Amino acid sequence: MPALQKYTHPLWQEYRPGVFEWFGLTGSGGKTAMQVGFHSANSRENLDMLVGKGVRLRRIEEADLARMVEWWNRPDVWENFLYKFPLSHGGQVIWFKNLFQNQRCLFLIIETIDTRQPVGTIGLDSIDHVNQTAECGNLMIGNNESKGMGFAREATLLLLTYGFYRLNLNRIFLNVLADNVRAIELYKNCGFREEGKLRQAFFDQGAFKDILVMAILRDEYRHAVP
Ligand SMILES: CC(C)(COP(=O)(O)OP(=O)(O)OC[C@H]1O[C@@H](n2cnc3c(N)ncnc32)[C@H](O)[C@@H]1OP(=O)(O)O)[C@@H](O)C(=O)NCCC(=O)NCCS
Repeated sequence: MPALQKYTHPLWQEYRPGVFEWFGLTGSGGKTAMQVGFHSANSRENLDMLVGKGVRLRRIEEADLARMVEWWNRPDVWENFLYKFPLSHGGQVIWFKNLFQNQRCLFLIIETIDTRQPVGTIGLDSIDHVNQTAECGNLMIGNNESKGMGFAREATLLLLTYGFYRLNLNRIFLNVLADNVRAIELYKNCGFREEGKLRQAFFDQGAFKDILVMAILRDEYRHAVP
């Protein structure tokens, strides 16, 4: 049974005691071992960064909008999303201006640690502090060269760790098209379970498709990551 081991980071003194801890997720078969952590406001890294081994997550900036429009409008990306309007730069500028007033939405850029290149997006939406739930969404890797390298998986684990251990969420759920095998495998790989199927809930290119509802609970996260 995989276990969540709790470590004190060697640089503990630089982190606010009691708030910032490191969690080591030890994988079976040695292929998924990773550590995730949070850089605190008083660390030497930028604010709000969630840092893993291969990627870091940071808040989106206005300078990212052009790249985001380009990524999202790629057919292989948007055919897998439940949002069907093409993005425009003007529309994204308005969206971006409202984003930071929306405390229920966290939109993040996935950036490689080695090259500091943005490679994709991920986020939480519908953050609900009463019921301690949120929706995981907007996951994508923007170019083919960066796919299949584990960036999306690590970004998802970072986001889950942040959601459960920093935002005090108890349940993180998502909706995914039932034919998006790649994403479904990734989510399962991160510990999400299928909860149900919304039959023929989505119309695309002349056919109705099913949507899977998947979720992971905080208690499950401790044990589910392979
Ligand atoms: C879904 C997406 C984010 C996955 O990105 P990725 O770079 O392939 O993901 P990773 O490299 O981190 O792969 C993680 C896991 O995905 C699964 N996976 C990757 N490629 C796969 C494939 N061809 N078939 C099945 N599963 C696959 C595996 O479980 C893999 O884990 P493993 O390498 O330990 O076996 C990416 O394909 C994408 O941007 N798709 C378009 C947008 C999208 O579908 N978003 C999700 C909307 S709900």
